[in-house]
Amino acid sequence: MTDESTPGSIPPPGKDIEDIPTAKTLKGLDAGQASSVLPPAPPSAPPAMPPEAMEVASDPTRQINQYLLVAQVGAGGMGAVWKSWDTNGRRWVAVKFLNAIDDDSIRRFRREAQVTQRLHHPNICTIHDVSEAKGRPYLVMDYLEGGPIGSAGAPLRSLVETFVKVCRAIDYAHRNGVIHRDIKPSNIMVSPAGEPCVTDFGLAKVVMPQSTISIAAAVMGTPSFMPPEQASGRIQAQDEKSDLYSLGATLYTVTTGKPPFERENATATLFEVCSTDPVAPRKINPVIPRPLEAVILKGMDKDKRLRYASAEEMALDLERFLKGEPVLARPPGPLRKLVRRLRANPLASAGAAAVVLATAVMVAVLLQPRPETPPPVIVNAPAPPPSGPTDHQKWRERFEPLQAELAFHNFRTFPAERLVELKRLFASMPEPLVPEVASWFLGQAAQVPFDVWPRREWWERQEEARRRVDWCRTILAALADRSGKFAEAKNVAADRAARYAPVATWRGSITLTVTATPFAEIKSLRTGNTWIVRDGRRTSDAPSGDVQYTPYKQDDLDVADYVVVLSHPKLGERTLTISGGAMRHGGRYIFSGSLDDPKSFALIEKR
Ligand SMILES: Nc1ncnc2c1ncn2[C@@H]1O[C@H](COP(=O)(O)OP(=O)(O)O)[C@@H](O)[C@H]1O
Ligand SMILES: [Mg+2]
Repeated sequence: MTDESTPGSIPPPGKDIEDIPTAKTLKGLDAGQASSVLPPAPPSAPPAMPPEAMEVASDPTRQINQYLLVAQVGAGGMGAVWKSWDTNGRRWVAVKFLNAIDDDSIRRFRREAQVTQRLHHPNICTIHDVSEAKGRPYLVMDYLEGGPIGSAGAPLRSLVETFVKVCRAIDYAHRNGVIHRDIKPSNIMVSPAGEPCVTDFGLAKVVMPQSTISIAAAVMGTPSFMPPEQASGRIQAQDEKSDLYSLGATLYTVTTGKPPFERENATATLFEVCSTDPVAPRKINPVIPRPLEAVILKGMDKDKRLRYASAEEMALDLERFLKGEPVLARPPGPLRKLVRRLRANPLASAGAAAVVLATAVMVAVLLQPRPETPPPVIVNAPAPPPSGPTDHQKWRERFEPLQAELAFHNFRTFPAERLVELKRLFASMPEPLVPEVASWFLGQAAQVPFDVWPRREWWERQEEARRRVDWCRTILAALADRSGKFAEAKNVAADRAARYAPVATWRGSITLTVTATPFAEIKSLRTGNTWIVRDGRRTSDAPSGDVQYTPYKQDDLDVADYVVVLSHPKLGERTLTISGGAMRHGGRYIFSGSLDDPKSFALIEKR
């Protein structure tokens, strides 16, 4: 991980803001304020181009202005996200493309990105550049290592501590007139060191044009985190409190392992967001303490007046919980539940009608080649079915316990008999549920972080690596006879299994010294097809390296079997094998013997 990808190395505020029509929203966001939250960038020599970037440097299709697109790390609703090397800034960045849309949206995209560019906070992902290449708009931001919040299997306490920082980052944005509009786990990346970074401020607004919601829902596929006022299309009711709801829904998801509302399609989910109370978090995960449950539910109250007054208030209540003090949030008592139910009914039907209308508008807009023409007004839209057919519901209920065990961050093991059970259940999956189930698997697979830890951390991370490989293989086994909509989840699982397998099977590293009497040349040293010395030269510095002689010492070799070829001008060549059987991680070994008698060679551990 390079320094550049940490939130600490955010550059100073940008140049001109004259061209931004919404500059008035930025009052109070000046350089002084920014520097108060920014640690100074560490002075260091610019790093050389990493080998992965070099590999694509000659491929013109991977070059976008000054950026080399090294690997696609994701594809959200807006377009693909690429881990990229910035050849000017000499750092890793993430380049996010916006799928080709109309000029109006592109203008909005630029404006929103520019507004966000004014936010400078250690827990907010910095946008470095907004531009266009070959007609495709893109933005460039910090490249964030790690994974979405909740994906690393962190203990509850540290999860809440991380979440407090997220609340403060959102509060900072609100104080500067910026509403996020799309808070959800995948927009909160947590670094391997546990620092959260919030991405995609205000971008939802870009794909949410002309004050309707569901385009965003359909395009971005995340209505689970939308507050009811947004889900029912009352756009004018959207404000900071909408972000508070999404914070609550995000905390709900990372503590229970499932989003509060998740149905077979966006419309059904939106309908539930407007009409139903979420299942109490403790019913899903009884480990969640009651006060934390109360904070989550207060955050996501359907009545926005009952939510926290600000993200800072939510942070303070979470801190009370962490300190073991009583929290302000109260669990809804029987009386309040009744009042809420009475109040919820008219609201629910109004919300539902709005969802129908919004969906109709959405479909119309999505089908329309040019969005400038006003969307048709739909009169007398039919009411939606309140829920799917009962056999769907029954099937879901049978799938739920398996889901809980298969969820990536809960996963421990999945015994063979459960797999049989799962396959049997899959055989009876109602066809309309396929997209929902497939997207659940894909969502889980996407939680397995793409980047593997640096080698020096492999030893201590091995257990987690094995868990990840195990999870991927379980998913691949579970979906073995499925294709179509499940193909993407399988691809991601196969890719992640291959990434983590070397860590999972790694046996550690050792220091090895090869000596011989008499003194000999090391012709080669290899393990399998990996050469450490070849034709007398260390492969790491060939072809210019020096010819290597005994005693030859090499640090950081994998625990493995080796073959070494020693050569002496009079005695000729000797091919010897070094067994890794007895080696242990961190050990220092000497392989020595006499060339006269190859049987005399033995491996001993230096204490
Ligand atoms: N700045 C970033 N650094 C590293 N990875 C990123 C970054 N932004 C996005 N990603 C990856 O790309 C994926 C897609 O991102 P995005 O298009 O924002 O969709 P979403 O947030 O809905 O997942 C994310 O889930 C994440 O894995
Ligand atoms: Mg995102």
